[in-house]
Amino acid sequence: MYRKGEKKHPNKIALNWTLGTAIVSFVGAGLLGLAHTLPQVNMYTHGTLVTAMHGHLAFWGAYAMIVFAIISYSMPNMTGRKLYDTTTGQLAFWLSNIGMVGMTVAFGVAGVAQVYLERKVGLEFGDVQKEIQVHFFILICCATMFTAGIACYIYEFIKYGTPTDEALEVKTV
Ligand code: HEM
Ligand code: HEM
Repeated sequence: MYRKGEKKHPNKIALNWTLGTAIVSFVGAGLLGLAHTLPQVNMYTHGTLVTAMHGHLAFWGAYAMIVFAIISYSMPNMTGRKLYDTTTGQLAFWLSNIGMVGMTVAFGVAGVAQVYLERKVGLEFGDVQKEIQVHFFILICCATMFTAGIACYIYEFIKYGTPTDEALEVKTV
């Protein structure tokens, strides 16, 4: 819809987060949520890491990203600083999103293995957790990338978010 609108919004970062929240919530909540809603599937996947896979992408896409979109749009307007396409801002977006997609995949693969070992083969919960440890290693690597992205966002928020005198100046003509 944005492309068809043929409008060029100057605030690239806010646009990334806005389009991102639509896409990621659709995949995380819409597709991954629906995928394990069917009773025939949920019978196996209920309360496993498959649930955590859906939970993370849905929460991130639907609630966290939209807040970042609103901040990225309103902060430049409120402070008068044109934070439209900064390197730290782009890094925050891409690192956190690639990290979260990686985390989702790690949760998903661990979840499918967990379902198979626990509910098909019949192993105990604790034994299965040991078998799927490697996926948690990948999870932590991706989570580190995710955290780095969030750190970039917070850094920029603190650095440029507080209005200084020049932004607060009242024009007297
Ligand atoms: C903003 C939207 C959504 C968010 C933030 C969200 C988040 C979550 C979270 C955190 C859980 C885990 C709950 C727990 O630990 O007990 C969960 C479970 C579940 N969600 Fe969503 N969800 C969303 C939308 C959807 C949609 C649209 C569907 C289906 C079309 C769906 C289907 C499910 C199902 C079936 C479960 C239970 C999984 C199980 O049996 O273990 N969700 N969701
Ligand atoms: C550093 C990044 C993160 C790591 C390493 C991480 C890891 C985890 C792990 C290991 C679980 C337990 C899963 C289970 O055993 O069922 C969990 C649960 C959960 N996390 Fe995260 N998480 C991270 C970030 C987030 C973010 C950003 C959100 C929301 C925006 C979130 C929302 C949740 C929710 C709602 C649950 C409960 C889900 C359920 O019961 O299935 N997490 N997380």
